[in-house]
Amino acid sequence: MDIMSYIFPEGFKWGSATSAHQIEGNNHNDWSEWEKSRPPEFRSGKACDSYNRYEEDFDIAKKLNQNIHRFSIEWSRIEPKEGRFDHEAMHHYVNVVKALRERGIEPIVQLWHFTNPVWFAEKGGFLNVDSPEIFTRYVKYVVDNLKDRVGLWITFNEAASIYSGFAYLNGQWPPQHRNIFEYIKVRKNFIKAQALAYRTIKEIYTVPQSTLGLNNPTSHNVEVGLVENNAFSALGNLWHEKMIGKLYNYQRNLYFWDKALPYYDFLGLNYYHVDRRVPGSYRVLPKQDWMSEMGWETYPKGIYYRLMELKKFKKPIYVIENGIADSKDELRGRFIKEHLRWVWQAVHDGADVRGYLYWSLLDNFEWARGFKPRFGLVEIDYATFERKIRPSALEYAKICKANQLDLPAGRQELMIKN
Ligand code: FCB
Repeated sequence: MDIMSYIFPEGFKWGSATSAHQIEGNNHNDWSEWEKSRPPEFRSGKACDSYNRYEEDFDIAKKLNQNIHRFSIEWSRIEPKEGRFDHEAMHHYVNVVKALRERGIEPIVQLWHFTNPVWFAEKGGFLNVDSPEIFTRYVKYVVDNLKDRVGLWITFNEAASIYSGFAYLNGQWPPQHRNIFEYIKVRKNFIKAQALAYRTIKEIYTVPQSTLGLNNPTSHNVEVGLVENNAFSALGNLWHEKMIGKLYNYQRNLYFWDKALPYYDFLGLNYYHVDRRVPGSYRVLPKQDWMSEMGWETYPKGIYYRLMELKKFKKPIYVIENGIADSKDELRGRFIKEHLRWVWQAVHDGADVRGYLYWSLLDNFEWARGFKPRFGLVEIDYATFERKIRPSALEYAKICKANQLDLPAGRQELMIKN
């Protein structure tokens, strides 16, 4: 069989991502409060118990040839009461970073991934006019404590897109508001917070280089990223459909990056599926034949369009999340390969993509959907917390090791069709 090899640039990073509330267990924040009102299977509880088992998790990541890992710091642990920082919790995350470094894995530290301390939520969360300052105070504390070990930071995860929409527009996530004015306000505060946090992080790193990165040369240049974007919106082909499509795409996918342009160094792209909310999209893009267990329509070439569109921001890009809920592990291997084939194409066509992180290393607590969706390269038994590597993880590990994707030549034809 003829094989076609897609070789990635030298130094391309390979890894996976998680987030604190989804894996740590025993968090006390606005989500855990909200979860109390929900049936047991929708409560995060002990999650994957990764707060205690992170070393085991990172051993697995290493074994799978990963050299970058994105995790998040739980704000509610660091600042359980307003203005009072918990040094022990901070020390825990210093150890998490050390554990990654010891295994030769570069950390990307996410500072906010959907959850808020209860006291902050009670003050209105990101609706509060002072939220940018309050958030930045926490950021400063964390960055001060990790500055000589971390070179890649990400402030917000899908803040202006998914989070603002679910929490303030359609009411599916806490605080379950449905108010367009609040939605607009929250998004503006996220932009202000991004600007303030960015300037603060950059000030911390202006101390002489000799004090930085002694144990890890990679953190000499600190970079701050911003993650957005979740879907590919298929545009219709009539003029008004195109207009709606463009507007929708801007509002949902591009707004935050565009507005916060001076205040981040790299873009983090989360890409999962095609979005059909634009009328006429079926005429332009026929229905794809595979769905995830989230009910998301898989469309690998969409990642190519997204990456090519992001070129205009002229910043390096990491694919921070891309993955599939697939409890039987029947589609995951194919999902990863077909997306990577298009990531490769985007790199070939000039997109400055520096790495790819699969979502997620582990099965985990999938927010309002509970534990049912299984995104992990590693299966979790929630009764025993046993970790079991799925076959697709080994397929991905091969790619990570070789820095190259090998596909049967015919298959590649099939994939280019759409
Ligand atoms: C993204 C989130 C991540 C995970 C995946 C499936 O929107 O950032 O936490 O839930 O979806």
